[in-house]
Order: sequence, then C-alpha cells, then structure tokens
Amino acid sequence: MDKLTTIILAAGYGKRMKSKLPKVLHKISGAPMIQHVVDLALEIGSDETVCVVGHGRELVEASLKNQKVKFAVQEVQLGTGHAVKAAQDFINEGLVLVLFGDAPLLSALTLNAFIENHKAGKYKASLISTNFEDPSGYGRIIRDKSGKFDRIVEHKDATLDQLKITEINSGIGLFDASILMTALNALKNNNKQGEYYLTDVFEYVKDHHGAVDAFVINHSYEVIGINDRLTLAEAEKYHQSLIKKHWMLEGVTMISPESIYIEKYVTIGQDTIIEQGTMLKGKTVIGEDCNIGPYSEIIDTKIGNEVKVKHSTLLESSIDDRTVVGPYAYLRPKSIVGKDCKIGDFVEVKNTTIGDCTKISHLTYVGDGKVGNNVNLGCGVVFVNYDGVNKHLTVIEDDVFVGCNTNLIAPVTVGREAYIAAGSTITEDVPEKALAIARERQVNKTDWSNKYLKKK
Ligand code: UD1
Ligand code: CA
Repeated sequence: MDKLTTIILAAGYGKRMKSKLPKVLHKISGAPMIQHVVDLALEIGSDETVCVVGHGRELVEASLKNQKVKFAVQEVQLGTGHAVKAAQDFINEGLVLVLFGDAPLLSALTLNAFIENHKAGKYKASLISTNFEDPSGYGRIIRDKSGKFDRIVEHKDATLDQLKITEINSGIGLFDASILMTALNALKNNNKQGEYYLTDVFEYVKDHHGAVDAFVINHSYEVIGINDRLTLAEAEKYHQSLIKKHWMLEGVTMISPESIYIEKYVTIGQDTIIEQGTMLKGKTVIGEDCNIGPYSEIIDTKIGNEVKVKHSTLLESSIDDRTVVGPYAYLRPKSIVGKDCKIGDFVEVKNTTIGDCTKISHLTYVGDGKVGNNVNLGCGVVFVNYDGVNKHLTVIEDDVFVGCNTNLIAPVTVGREAYIAAGSTITEDVPEKALAIARERQVNKTDWSNKYLKKK
C-alpha cells in the first residue's frame, strides 16, 4: 500500500477572525479546529501527520502536544502553496493529502471516498469541490467544455463571469508525492495577493503530468472554511446537530435538542434522557438510564447509571449510580460522590469524597472533607475548612448524623455513629457513638414581653 502523508496547513494569520488567538485554535464543539483536523488525519490512518505552523506557532504546538503529529515551520506566510513547501522534508513517497486547519467539519466517510476515487481514477492530483449557494470568498472551479477540471481561480482574481460559478475549491487536495514537489517548485506568485497558491498546483499537474479530478461532494457543509466569527458560529451549529443526531441514534433521548450543547469528546449511555438547556462538556462520561437536566452544566465529570442531575453545575467530579443531584447543587473539582446519595438544593461540594447512601439535602458547604457511608448532614451544615491561611480536612465517619446549622471547624473528625446536636460549633473531635452538643443552653425568661412593653 502507498504511504499516506497528511499535511495540515495551520500557519496563516487568520486576519478575518479579528482575534489574539490563532484562528485554528478557535473551538468547534469544545475542540480547537486544528484538533478536529488532526483527529480526522489519524482516523483515516495517515502514516505521518504534519502540521505546518507559523503564526502563533507556540500556542498551536502546545495545543497538540503528546499527539501523533510532527511540525514544519513556515516562517513567513506567503500562501498555501508556500506553506505546503515548508513541509517538503516530509514529502518523499506515496500519496500526500493536504488538509486545511480552518476546515474542521470534514468526515472520514467523505475523505475516504475521495481517496478511493483518486486511486481508482489513477489521478496524479485531485481535490474536493462542492457547490455553495453563496460561493463568495472561495476559489472557483473552472471546467473545460467537456466538463473536465481545468483550473482554480481565487475569488480575488476572478472575473465577473467567473464569480458566478458556484462550484468551489474546498482546499483539500491529494497528490503523488514526487509530482507535488515538482509542481511546488514551479509555483509563481503573479496574482492579486502576491502569494504562492496551492490551487495553481492542480493546473500545473494537469498541464505536465496527466489527469486531475475535482471530486464533487453533496454535503457541502463538510468543507466550510472558517475565516470569521460568523462562519465559526455556523460551523458550530452544524457540528452540534451532527453530535446530537449521533447520540440520539445511539439511544439517548433529548428534550428540545436544539437547546442542548454537547462537546466532541462526551459520551452518553443508552436510555439516558438529556433535558433542555443542558451543556455537557470536556471529557464528560454519562452512564445509562440517567436523567440529566434541565439546565445543567457538566464539565469533565464521570456519571454512573440511573443518576439524576437537575439545574446543577458539576466540574471535574464523579457521581456514582442512582445518586440524585440538585436542583441547584454546585460540585466543584474533585467531588467524588458514591452510590444512592442525595446532594440537594444549594449544596456546594469541593475536594471531598462522599461514601454511599449519604444525604446532604439542603443549604450546605462541604469542602476538603472525607464523608463516610450513610451519613446525614442536616440543613445549613458548614465545613469550616479555611483558617485564613491554610485549608484543613474534615472527616465524618460512617452512620453519623449532623444536626442542622452545625459548623465543623477543621481539622476535625467525627467518629462513626456519632450525633451532633443542631446549632453546634464543633471544634474538637467527636468520639464514635457520642452525642456532641456545642452551643449555649437556652434560657426562657417568663412573662418577659409584658414587662418589656410596660417599660416602653
Ligand atoms: C483557500 C483556497 C481557496 C479555497 C478556500 C477553502 C488557496 C490559494 N485558496 O482560500 O481556493 O476555496 O481555501 O476554504 O489555497 N495557510 C498557511 N500559510 C499561508 C497561508 C495559509 O498555513 O501562508 C493556512 C491557513 O492557516 C489556513 C489555510 O492555509 O488554515 C487556508 O488559508 P486561507 O488564507 O484561509 O485561505 P482562503 O483564502 O480561505
Ligand atoms: Ca480559509
């Protein structure tokens, strides 16, 4: 089999984005555009994947660190042809596929069909084209009288008649390695932008080496090139619809799917229901038979089976089977919650492990703790974890009952099966099975209000 080298162009300035961030690092469904393209290159089995970087190169390289990609540097951005040439050390044998870092929506299905077509037709070079209702900004495909590919004219170089052509160049091209190098060396920059266009390679190959094909695809959205924030938003909308369609076909129910947002690397189990206004982000994993939402934001969190989450925010946490969260709970990073728990309304948890069957039903702050199984934290319990300088640990062992409005001044340990009276401020460890009461005794002054009113 031919070696397949994929070159991803990502060195451009991206002026039209009007951004401090390099264009290819703007995100679609939570992943930088360039990441989508790298994932695609790996998915189709590229033997080598090379990103051409230049503008904002440190940031682009950092975003792809520890991945199976190599980098070539284009010091000055003199056009797409010039950019491919910057990767010449990697252009040696077999086929070379060129992808654009600003075209993140292409599917492996389409790309594989394109590569098959190239091989079957024994083309020396080929490209993906499509028809856009509004082709402005894109290079136009010029065909000869017999309908065969002739050349590409960039929007800025096109005549009024050529601007009427709706068939556009996607930028995605496939080449025989040896021919590509010859054609790149022959490129000229005599055009409106004074750039070395990759698009001119196709005309050169056709004139000097043989057949070139423009492979027309129907799903034109797949080759949208993102140059500004408007197309970024359109591409995001399209990508979101693909993600949601995928999960619905995998057995996930969505209520008002248009209001739901799901990022690229999220996974969801069968028979889970996602309700409106819910955002699932990062590497969140959701099990089966869950009910998530309405209006919850869940980031990098692992959720077991049969879990319910309502109107809540969950960050970098994990929730085990059958636990109920919310409404209006806030789980901050490293909240590890066991099975069959309840984390109720206006409860905030942070950096705390919670055992199974524990109930924290309302208005409670649980920070830097270790809470056992079958614990009940009453309404308004506060883990006083911060002394103004350091954070301290609160340990609550199994089967403990903490009465309402209790402050636990950390570091402190409450032994198993202990009880704490409501309203206590606990400053010392509570032995197991003890009852701790740490509050003023109540005094009732009889007939007090009559005397008070008389004085007034
Ligand atoms: C390019 C194509 C156009 C096509 C369109 C599809 C050329 C000359 N034009 O136009 O025919 O219809 O894409 O979206 O190829 N880049 C570099 N170095 C450079 C210039 C660009 O790495 O010197 C990279 C950019 O980072 C970007 C990609 O190449 O990822 C495309 O460049 P861009 O300037 O966006 O090209 P378009 O004008 O959109
Ligand atoms: Ca572009």
